[in-house]
Amino acid sequence: MRVNSYVALLGLLHVTGGSANGSPAPALPYTAQTYTSSEGTPMVFDESTLIKLASNGTSPSIVILDYGRNVEGYATFHVSKRSGDTSTFEMTYSETRALLDSDMGDGPMPLAAAMDTYRINRYNITEQKTYTNRLIQGGLRYQKLNLSSAGEVELSGIGFKPTVSRAPIAALPGSFSCSDPVLNRIWQVGARTTQLTEIPAKSLPNFWVITDEGAFIDSLAPQPFSADFATAMTAYDLEFSVKPIMNGFGFTVLSDTLANGIYIFVNVANSSISAHAGSTERSDPIASAKLPSNITLNQWHIVQSNVEMVGISVRIDGVPVFNFSQSAAFYGSFGLGASLGHSALFTNVSLTVSGQDMYYSSLNDASALQDFLLGTNPLPVSVDGSRRDRIAYAGDLDMATGTAFASTYGHDYINGTIELLGSFQMPPGFFVPTTKIQQAPRKTEIDANITGLIGYSFSMVSAMARFYEQTGDANFLNHWAPKTARMLDWAHSQTLPNSLFNISNSALGGDWNYYDPALDGVVSKFNLIYAYALKQWLPFMDDAGLNTTLYAGRLHNLQNAINKHLWSDTLQAYYLSDSHKDFLSQEANALAVLADTTAYGNRTSRTVLSTLARELYVPSGALAFSNRSAASGWAQKISPYASGYHLKAAFHANDSVTANYLLHSVWGPISDASHTNYTGCMWEVMMADGTPGLGSSTSLCHAWSSGPTADLSRYVLGVQPVTPGFKEWKVVPQSLDLDWAKGAYPVPGGKINVDWSFDSNNLLHMTVTAPNGTRGTVYLPTPLKETLHKYNATAFLSNEKDFFTVKGGETFSIHQTD
Ligand SMILES: *[C@@H]1O[C@H](CO)[C@@H](O)[C@H](O)[C@H]1NC(C)=O
Ligand SMILES: *[C@@H]1O[C@H](CO)[C@@H](O)[C@H](O)[C@H]1NC(C)=O
Ligand SMILES: *[C@@H]1O[C@H](CO)[C@@H](O)[C@H](O)[C@H]1NC(C)=O
Ligand SMILES: *[C@@H]1O[C@H](CO)[C@@H](O)[C@H](O)[C@H]1NC(C)=O
Ligand SMILES: *[C@@H]1O[C@H](CO)[C@@H](O)[C@H](O)[C@H]1NC(C)=O
Ligand SMILES: *[C@@H]1O[C@H](CO)[C@@H](O)[C@H](O)[C@H]1NC(C)=O
Ligand SMILES: *[C@@H]1O[C@H](CO)[C@@H](O)[C@H](O)[C@H]1NC(C)=O
Ligand SMILES: *[C@@H]1O[C@H](CO)[C@@H](O)[C@H](O)[C@H]1NC(C)=O
Ligand SMILES: *[C@@H]1O[C@H](CO)[C@@H](O)[C@H](O)[C@H]1NC(C)=O
Ligand SMILES: *[C@@H]1O[C@H](CO)[C@@H](O)[C@H](O)[C@H]1NC(C)=O
Ligand SMILES: *[C@@H]1O[C@H](CO)[C@@H](O)[C@H](O)[C@H]1NC(C)=O
Ligand SMILES: *[C@@H]1O[C@H](CO)[C@@H](O)[C@H](O)[C@H]1NC(C)=O
Repeated sequence: MRVNSYVALLGLLHVTGGSANGSPAPALPYTAQTYTSSEGTPMVFDESTLIKLASNGTSPSIVILDYGRNVEGYATFHVSKRSGDTSTFEMTYSETRALLDSDMGDGPMPLAAAMDTYRINRYNITEQKTYTNRLIQGGLRYQKLNLSSAGEVELSGIGFKPTVSRAPIAALPGSFSCSDPVLNRIWQVGARTTQLTEIPAKSLPNFWVITDEGAFIDSLAPQPFSADFATAMTAYDLEFSVKPIMNGFGFTVLSDTLANGIYIFVNVANSSISAHAGSTERSDPIASAKLPSNITLNQWHIVQSNVEMVGISVRIDGVPVFNFSQSAAFYGSFGLGASLGHSALFTNVSLTVSGQDMYYSSLNDASALQDFLLGTNPLPVSVDGSRRDRIAYAGDLDMATGTAFASTYGHDYINGTIELLGSFQMPPGFFVPTTKIQQAPRKTEIDANITGLIGYSFSMVSAMARFYEQTGDANFLNHWAPKTARMLDWAHSQTLPNSLFNISNSALGGDWNYYDPALDGVVSKFNLIYAYALKQWLPFMDDAGLNTTLYAGRLHNLQNAINKHLWSDTLQAYYLSDSHKDFLSQEANALAVLADTTAYGNRTSRTVLSTLARELYVPSGALAFSNRSAASGWAQKISPYASGYHLKAAFHANDSVTANYLLHSVWGPISDASHTNYTGCMWEVMMADGTPGLGSSTSLCHAWSSGPTADLSRYVLGVQPVTPGFKEWKVVPQSLDLDWAKGAYPVPGGKINVDWSFDSNNLLHMTVTAPNGTRGTVYLPTPLKETLHKYNATAFLSNEKDFFTVKGGETFSIHQTD
């Protein structure tokens, strides 16, 4: 996800420590599948393809490569021949073909230092050699090559050196296939999304080039200086020395942690200076001025900027050159950078607040990278998206966790993300919702009493419960249980006399749908995500030494209160909040089903699921909020994230009609290789008509949309743990109108393999194997096509007569004979 600046301010705090030795694993580069030649002819690309570009200097030579689905990594190419003027060669990247034609591709991506800022890289080709980009391009499907100077080049070995695992999906520890090809591709596209968002430890390169003279910055958005105090600064003096090399440089003041502030664009080549909201010069200027002509390239200059909230002034070499007032940003840090095609050396940066020296660096050693969060990532982490934001978020993590365990078995990435985000717990018990991955886990508590996105603190503890459920890692449980208890106890302390959880400070009430109004007071979603977190943890509380009776009692009271107070007879669902009783949230109601909260009076999960079908379904899927929400300012969008909880709820309630509907309508088009915008990955959010939901910034490779992969494995293969870590397990398939399904589920010590099918007489055949030393129970897929009368099997039906008891290390099979 991405968040608004207020949340970002609260969310991303700095710590020191951690190392910066990038060592990406060597791997074969990705190559394109097809390309369009400079004559416009579609061609097949293979590893021996030579690309020729020839321009006369007025008409550029353009070749477009299509990788067929998203790839990522370091762009690389080999110049096998060159002649004439080859000084102006550029490559542009995009997830969609449409945005490849925009002047910036589908960028820029200034939010963090985890990827190149610009989706364009320019080269002055002077030699026949291999060129490899210094920084990572996140998810992209298309690459445009453009020679515009009067010369010729011949290129071979064009591709991307991956920085994440590129194991074929078929070779992943987890697998799933069935008689419906749509479900197969959904499972695979979810697995691929997970693969692209799992970032190995120490795989990010340094964002700046550190030299003896200072930091060399070429075509990179400023990243904010990171310190606990810096996020809230409103008035300060910034000073630095700069030697502009190409065209000029830039810096931000009043910047939030996602680099958004006031960008001061110093175009030395053009003797101009201008101020822009954001982190590039791409928005209309707030103010501009001419620079004295003696401010030139290739000379050191001293820049001083005085920030007094709305009033900002700049002096260069002691001469006042720029002075303006603005109302686009009011607090935040500073950053140093350079626009596309600009570069400069920076040194001797200092920050003074109220006459006090707060920071100084000569920017000529690695500590500078840490100060601005520009180094490598100390831990393996799971991030929100491959192209954007490449930042860790707790809400996204809860969805990514299930999918990682079912497919890549990337437990290290989940564990690393929990370790990182979980170290940012605050004295009251809640967590920050998000951290940049260049940070190391905090060793001390944050002295702050406020967080954003309170729902994400519950997602955080739910993800911990899932991790323990899957691994049975007792050390993990013992480490996180006390921290979880603090979070849950804080939530309890915020309940009203009627037992409902209440948001008393509106700063806490934002959510993943940051483009909609924030909510406070009594909000169904926050009550239900609290109930869900309790529900997820209850089975493990005894193991963790927590008082199960106490938390079970709280859950019981909470569920009763939710049912008594938050139900709308008119809507036949839980309403949005005390302040909005006329519409409903998809996610809140799905969480009610998942937390077993719906059984009350004559209400059941069916009541809720049929209301969601009636109120939310549109041809392209299901809306995240019912129609009436539009009148209160809610966007009408389809969220594969919220739909992910809806799908889990459908499976939890054995509702195959809803599950099939959501799978085919929400995720069917995303995973369809013939869709215009296919990336082989899950999309972040859609408009009600199925088009990208946040315009050109929409991430088309977003882990929070990959939920179905986990659910197909858990509910259609049917593999579920009975005890944490699968020492005891069960197989409980929902047949979902399929003829067959088979696959493997990775567990500690091996895999659980399941294969079930109905033959042409509608009789069931099923095989299950599991690691030696485990034991399990196997239920037959429901519903069967024919009632079970006779069978032969390697085990006998249990006394309860609806499951078989199976020992790991032995093959269980059953054949229905009548
Ligand atoms: C360059 O090539 C384009 C396209 O072939 C042509 O229209 C144009 O006249 C050429 N310009 C020069 C200066 O040769
Ligand atoms: C390209 O590099 C060469 C060699 O360093 C240099 O002489 C030339 O000015 C550069 N051209 C451009 C357009 O930067
Ligand atoms: C090709 O590159 C030149 C120089 O950067 C640029 O002006 C032009 O717009 C590019 N053309 C296309 C189609 O990308
Ligand atoms: C210089 O500034 C003018 C006026 O803002 C602009 O049109 C032009 O593109 C700029 N040139 C460069 C090289 O930045
Ligand atoms: C530029 O000229 C101004 C006077 O107009 C002078 O004060 C300043 O020192 C000069 N800067 C440099 C780098 O020569
Ligand atoms: C999770 O990380 C912790 C701390 O690094 C480590 O002790 C534990 O073994 C890890 N567990 C798994 C299952 O990876
Ligand atoms: C947070 O609250 C605790 C307890 O109420 C208090 O001691 C502490 O000073 C507060 N910290 C901040 C930064 O407000
Ligand atoms: C657990 O909580 C229950 C309910 O609050 C309480 O009665 C009981 O004494 C607690 N048990 C322990 C061991 O603290
Ligand atoms: C459920 O109960 C409510 C009131 O208790 C009643 O109004 C409603 O008609 C009942 N619904 C069904 C489907 O029986
Ligand atoms: C594909 O993506 C582009 C760029 O975001 C968008 O303009 C277009 O509407 C999308 N097409 C479909 C069919 O979703
Ligand atoms: C399972 O483990 C037992 C005890 O460790 C061993 O005797 C047996 O051979 C193993 N079976 C298989 C199939 O590996
Ligand atoms: C069990 O039934 C299947 C299918 O009818 C048959 O192929 C198999 O030989 C039978 N096995 C035994 C042990 O009877």
